Amino acid sequence: MENAIQFAYVVSAALFIFGLKQLGSPDTARRGNMISSIGMLVAVVAALLSQGIDYTWILIGVAIGGVVGALAARLVEMTSMPEMVALFNGSGGIASLLVGAAALDPENNGTFTLVTIVLSILIGGLTFTGSLVAYGKLSEKISSAPLMFVGQQVVNGAIVVGILGSAVMFCMNPADPTWLYVVIGLSLLFGIMAVIPIGGADMPVVISLLNSYSGLAACAAGFAVNNNILIVAGSLVGAAGIILTQIMCKAMNRSLSNVLFSGFGSGKQDTTEVEGEIKPISVEDAYYVLEAASSVAIIPGYGMAVAQAQHVVKELTEIMEANGAEVNFGIHPVAGRMPGHMNVLLAEADVPYDQLLEMDDINPRMESVDVAIVIGANDVVNPAARESEGSPIYGMPVINVDQARTVFVLKRSMASGFAGIENPLFYKDNTRMLFGDAKESIGGLVREFG
Ligand code: TAP
Repeated sequence: MENAIQFAYVVSAALFIFGLKQLGSPDTARRGNMISSIGMLVAVVAALLSQGIDYTWILIGVAIGGVVGALAARLVEMTSMPEMVALFNGSGGIASLLVGAAALDPENNGTFTLVTIVLSILIGGLTFTGSLVAYGKLSEKISSAPLMFVGQQVVNGAIVVGILGSAVMFCMNPADPTWLYVVIGLSLLFGIMAVIPIGGADMPVVISLLNSYSGLAACAAGFAVNNNILIVAGSLVGAAGIILTQIMCKAMNRSLSNVLFSGFGSGKQDTTEVEGEIKPISVEDAYYVLEAASSVAIIPGYGMAVAQAQHVVKELTEIMEANGAEVNFGIHPVAGRMPGHMNVLLAEADVPYDQLLEMDDINPRMESVDVAIVIGANDVVNPAARESEGSPIYGMPVINVDQARTVFVLKRSMASGFAGIENPLFYKDNTRMLFGDAKESIGGLVREFG
């Protein structure tokens, strides 16, 4: 039996890795998700069979969890996915904390197991409360502004020292759980303290980092209960999360420590000065320009997701191509509200993947583009990131749409984007503002072509 269980673990580890590989492209991502889910099912069944226990409560838990998961998957809006991921990470964290605590057996635990118990409780606890704060900030249930106060780093340092000291005390005398309670309390507190100074705009990075932590916590719990597949799955999540965190930091031209400790937007006032005037354009006039264009770049952002304009965008693309234009999409790594947000939406509308160019590929071509159509994007096309040292996003790489011959910006008003800052693009000589809901404006263009 033991061999069969270990074999099942190897099979599920292989399925996880294969599934992860398939997540690398939108074409295969759904299949990858399915394969990884099957891997998880194999792992859970094998783990349950390895224990000679009463399954009543486990089945009740599976039923409740299954219903909550299915409802969440169906009901949660695409734009709220990051919040949901934050809650998932938090659930992973608290699960590891509980598994770690349940593994405590002072009579039989060796020092190594005690250390892994403390680690799963510490990382799991801070992941839990940190994720709840991240959820609150992203969903704006609490203020998304960075919350900073004098001596914050000293307080955080003191909490870390307190956690380490209590952990040592606990390992020296595991029969007395008092110090373990202190570790639990301080870890929960530390999760809150670590995330409150970080602004809402940096939350995706924090969530990705917490995702990595939830993996590490699971890995530590795997050592605590001596379960190989938990160790493997936890390591995979830990590594994937940290890689994604790095990709996002690079896309914003910031270091991880800058994201975690600088409180983006807290101190820096936006002193960007704008010159020129707003030049609105009608759908009809925009059509005449597009009709004559031979090269078009479409830069989607969060507003395309809000308007759910992806299908009509695909329609417009096909019409312009039939009209003889070359059409490409420029995808910024942090466009929208979650990693890969634009890729997912465009894949849903069957836009061919080879038409999507990454920022570094589209920028060198921008000067030869006749019309750049910005659909509900704002921060990711803001030239202040290049030109205005007084801008909070100065230094962040952006898609240089202002270098195209003509720029159409589709948005409903002059409201700012996620970073809440001025965008000089709207005032440039070659920019025309096509005001209105993106789906309606693009639909209007499609009708004009028709
Ligand atoms: P934003 O800068 O947030 O701008 C979105 C724009 O879409 C807004 O200016 C809004 O203007 C417009 N809009 C909203 N609804 C619309 C509709 N129905 N039709 C037309 N336009 C609409 O978006 P972005 O350029 O994609 O930049 C993303 C920002 O979010 C960055 O600051 C990034 O750091 C941050 N962020 C990214 C992520 C990830 S990982 N992708 C996660 C969280 C946060 P109106 O209101 O005037 O229409």
